[in-house]
Amino acid sequence: MAQRIVVTGTDTGIGKTVFAAGLTALLGACYWKPVQAGLEEETDSQRVQRLAELSDSSVIPERYRLAEPASPHRAARLAGIQIDTLRLDPPDTGGRPVVIEGAGGVMVPLDDDTLHLDVFARWRFPVVLCARTSLGTINHSLLSLAALRSRGIDVLGIAFIGNAHPDSEATICRLGEVKRLGRLPWLAPLTATSLQQAFATEFRRADFEP
Ligand SMILES: Nc1ncnc2c1ncn2[C@@H]1O[C@H](COP(=O)(O)OP(=O)(O)OP(=O)(O)O)[C@@H](O)[C@H]1O
Ligand SMILES: [Mg+2]
Repeated sequence: MAQRIVVTGTDTGIGKTVFAAGLTALLGACYWKPVQAGLEEETDSQRVQRLAELSDSSVIPERYRLAEPASPHRAARLAGIQIDTLRLDPPDTGGRPVVIEGAGGVMVPLDDDTLHLDVFARWRFPVVLCARTSLGTINHSLLSLAALRSRGIDVLGIAFIGNAHPDSEATICRLGEVKRLGRLPWLAPLTATSLQQAFATEFRRADFEP
């Protein structure tokens, strides 16, 4: 069966999509964003395709494309639909690995009753937790790890994003008993080349392999 890795994060807007693009390129994987909420700006799939330099066939179409840039449960309601969380399963990729990006963080609702966490627990795919390095990250990271583990979800490790804060990183890894996968620095400019170079320097492919 194809390898599947879930990319989640401690919050929205922390760089999950940029990290997912780097990981997709590193693994030669496909990318899938099951639920895209917000269509005005570049979507996550478009950004990953650009930054990982993927062919169209390597980007699996979103199951739900919702106009409103809001929590998926609300964006769906505003669109007059309800997300069928049981239909949120990755399609067959002919054996190619898939990087799957959730929306926001682990406790973000998909409908009135279902959190991302519930879907991750049903899937049982290993999860990478992305975390900011800036102030506040210890609390968010430890809470997210506790939530994932409370449901028996396999956490591959934590990937930091941002400028170096070695004490925060070490504290999270020690108290959270989690493997540090690496840190993606804040890149300027952020391009396919700068991202893929930084990713290859900061992360090891073997850490993500089954
Ligand atoms: N390593 C980085 N270097 C430079 N810019 C970055 C980096 N990571 C993220 N950004 C920028 O920060 C913004 C948010 O990043 P991104 O879209 O990856 O966040 P996200 O966690 O996926 O958000 P969402 O919850 O909406 O999916 C984007 O404008 C992105 O270009
Ligand atoms: Mg994203």
